[in-house]
Amino acid sequence: MSQNSPIPAPISSIEIIRPDDWHLHVRDDDALKAVVPFTARQCGRAVIMPNLSPPITTTAQAHQYQKRILKATEPYNYFQPLMTLYLTDTTPVEEIQSALQSGIICALKLYPAGATTNSAAGVTDIKKTYPTLEKMQQLGIPLLVHGEVTHHDVDIFDREKQFIEQRLLSITKDFPELKIVFEHITTREAVDFVTQSSPYIAATITAHHLLMNRNDMLVGGIKPHHYCLPVLKRKTHQDALIKAAISGNKKFFMGTDSAPHSQQNKETACGCAGMFSAFAAIEFYAEAFDKAGALDKLEQFSSLNGPLFYGLATNSDKITLKRESWIIPESYQFGSDRVIPLRAGKTIQWKVISK
Ligand code: NCD
Ligand code: ZN
Repeated sequence: MSQNSPIPAPISSIEIIRPDDWHLHVRDDDALKAVVPFTARQCGRAVIMPNLSPPITTTAQAHQYQKRILKATEPYNYFQPLMTLYLTDTTPVEEIQSALQSGIICALKLYPAGATTNSAAGVTDIKKTYPTLEKMQQLGIPLLVHGEVTHHDVDIFDREKQFIEQRLLSITKDFPELKIVFEHITTREAVDFVTQSSPYIAATITAHHLLMNRNDMLVGGIKPHHYCLPVLKRKTHQDALIKAAISGNKKFFMGTDSAPHSQQNKETACGCAGMFSAFAAIEFYAEAFDKAGALDKLEQFSSLNGPLFYGLATNSDKITLKRESWIIPESYQFGSDRVIPLRAGKTIQWKVISK
């Protein structure tokens, strides 16, 4: 830039089609009431993860859970919770037919047993689910995948990469027309796999994996609130995720994986995995895209690519994001407990303006 060229003023606000969150944990009961309105305020839809305890494994359970979510989001009458079922070794093939007929189930979620929070009932051997996957392929119901192997000998930072090699390649080969969302991807290898695979394969990317790497969890003292699964990786992977998110490639879309836990359950000798980001989901993404000089690519990632993959219409209204710094509260109410939000007590640069 020559000495005389004026420095362009930073963009002060953007308007985008209302986003959707394609991967969200909202818990249940009073915790649900505390967290789900944050998402409903800014998103048109959210894919609700089924890892309650016990998990949501039947359409009937999902129906009841959806009712509780709708009750908790009444003021936001446009908000649609898209329900999922938790795939187990024994999910009956007939359940897939009822899931489709119900019109409320958008996908099934595969948790390898023991991979993450409330995954004890997860799949122990993918082959056991093959008849169910066959039916899902036939009916066009997507499989959402927590892509990490769980074997004790596999290093936690390599679990996603190993999952691609040991599981995903064979699933995609055996079910070439099964729609699969590789959820919350965290590695360059996952970006490459999704980019190179068929149009049936897509991926969600969280805001926290775009904004942070493992140094943010481990340097200067261990930060339990930055511990999630899949765990934050090194910066080269963070850079690959940013590149994918801003690329304009239709296979990548927003999924916060906002996963609130009580302060006590995070700040303990064996803290559980998950970050709470839903209270400022689109603002965190806006910050990541802004940093990458790609605010113009945010709408495609947050509001267009997801519905396209799921075969749904895009939301019909818009939201406005303003460049305005505000301080994130130190904690939020979470049922009878408190939850520490992502970046508690620090500033964030963007704000959704209510109309
Ligand atoms: C999630 C949770 O707490 O339910 N935790 C997380 O770290 N992301 C489970 C999950 O999505 O893996
Ligand atoms: Zn999740």
